[in-house]
Amino acid sequence: MNIFIASANSSKIKEIKAILQDDSLNLLSVLDTAELAKLNISIPADFDVAEDGKTFQENALLKAKAYAFLTGLPTIADDSGLEVEVLNGFPSVQSNRWFVGTARERSAALLDLLKDKTNRRARFYSVICFFDQKQNLTEFFDGEIQGTIAQKPRGNEIEGFGYDPIFIPDGYDKTFAELGVKFKNTISHRKLALLKLSQYVLQDKHLEQPE
Ligand code: IMP
Repeated sequence: MNIFIASANSSKIKEIKAILQDDSLNLLSVLDTAELAKLNISIPADFDVAEDGKTFQENALLKAKAYAFLTGLPTIADDSGLEVEVLNGFPSVQSNRWFVGTARERSAALLDLLKDKTNRRARFYSVICFFDQKQNLTEFFDGEIQGTIAQKPRGNEIEGFGYDPIFIPDGYDKTFAELGVKFKNTISHRKLALLKLSQYVLQDKHLEQPE
């Protein structure tokens, strides 16, 4: 059964594919151009979804619907972000956009905002939207992981993405980037949200059977 992953972020796509591995699911994304061509699906190179919702849920729905209408496939979208306690939850839904620059520069800017702060508590939060136009289904699943913000970036940036080099999950003394993406995928906010999704899709059998 085909499911489309509504994202242009290749790191996110790889994480979702690694976490959701199941023989009965064929997970497709913008990266699978050959397979999409066989299904007569073409995604314009400049296709972009304005993420102007006020909540993770609104943005996840915007992305899921946009790609579902384009592909005709049941679609999942992840909207996620980092919420820092002492900054009243900032940057939250703005995690990818509040500071213009590279991911490394955004992490540095966040560390700068926290330079005099002793409270380093933070969480990653993910909302996954599952949208199936044919069956008229819209469902949301969420996951969070609590932790703290490191004093400086640590770990290999190839392992993971975004704020991974500055986030230390509770119970560990290493950042997500130091722990590595394989381990991150066993405990992350995205893993927890996708676990709920897979329960819904696979065990509760909410996917239409192929014709
Ligand atoms: P969006 O969901 O596409 O709006 O982007 C989420 C942004 O939140 C990412 O670009 C990262 O900056 C941050 N983020 C979300 N999940 C993670 C994660 O697992 N690791 C590191 N950063 C993340």
